[in-house]
Amino acid sequence: MKKLENKTVFITGGLSGIGKACAFAAANEGANVAIVDLKSDESSKIIEELKQINPKAIFIECDVSDFNQVQVAIQKVISTFSSLDVALNNAGIGGKPSKIGDMTEEAWLKVIGVNLNGIFNCMKHELEQMSKQGKGVIINMSSILGKVAIAGSSHYVAAKHGIIGLTQSAALEYATDSIRINAICPGFIDTPLLNKLDFSKHKDIKQHLINLHPMNRLGNSEEIASGFIFLATDDSSFITGTSLDIDGGYLIQ
Ligand SMILES: NC(=O)c1ccc[n+]([C@@H]2O[C@H](COP(=O)([O-])OP(=O)(O)OC[C@H]3O[C@@H](n4cnc5c(N)ncnc54)[C@H](O)[C@@H]3O)[C@@H](O)[C@H]2O)c1
Repeated sequence: MKKLENKTVFITGGLSGIGKACAFAAANEGANVAIVDLKSDESSKIIEELKQINPKAIFIECDVSDFNQVQVAIQKVISTFSSLDVALNNAGIGGKPSKIGDMTEEAWLKVIGVNLNGIFNCMKHELEQMSKQGKGVIINMSSILGKVAIAGSSHYVAAKHGIIGLTQSAALEYATDSIRINAICPGFIDTPLLNKLDFSKHKDIKQHLINLHPMNRLGNSEEIASGFIFLATDDSSFITGTSLDIDGGYLIQ
């Protein structure tokens, strides 16, 4: 028996990097996968690949920073699959780096809008549905930068710390409702988000990031997907409100 057989799994930011790896891992465990992401030329190709694993895969175009679009996306999942069993709120952006004094209000609001408000928008509508069902699992994508800081990314660091607070608050509110809510804190993972730093021109930055991890390498998306499957299934049935560090030892230093 596969671990997510007949379960509906909702994944934001599922067309790339960590979210995409989690979508394939869930489908391989038997899940009906709904990928929620911005409009992209990649969507039909990725859904076709997913359908070869499980024919019940759909794409929903949605900007998670938009409250109403998220509500419509969740309604679409319910009307298609009748339930929402697991939600991975993963969509996120890096944002333009700068010190706080040099940061524009626009840059701040953009990152908070996607990375923090986006998580609230999803949780609000997911929890309404999961409360009606009397069960569910939510996993929010935070970061090592939800537990410590780096200079130059205060918007990102604030959002990722906020996600841990939201996760813990919600876990307390729904602990007796058979709804578990946890977060994942990845170290630096080799994905398109990180590659926006353009490693081909800045090999020194990549080496610097590698050196920050005691395991002396970046992580890969499949290593995050393994943690996601653990938190999504009954393998973690007594775990709620935690944040799972998958970081090659970054945070223990
Ligand atoms: N890569 C890393 O090193 C790393 C480390 C820690 C945490 N994270 C977090 O993991 C998550 C996934 O990151 P990734 O590295 O896979 O990035 P990625 O850029 O490869 O994928 C992010 C996905 O989110 C989607 N997205 C962006 N804005 C959106 C919006 N407004 N609405 C809907 N979808 C949107 C993108 O289209 C993309 O498909 C993010 O929340 C990120 O902050 C990444």
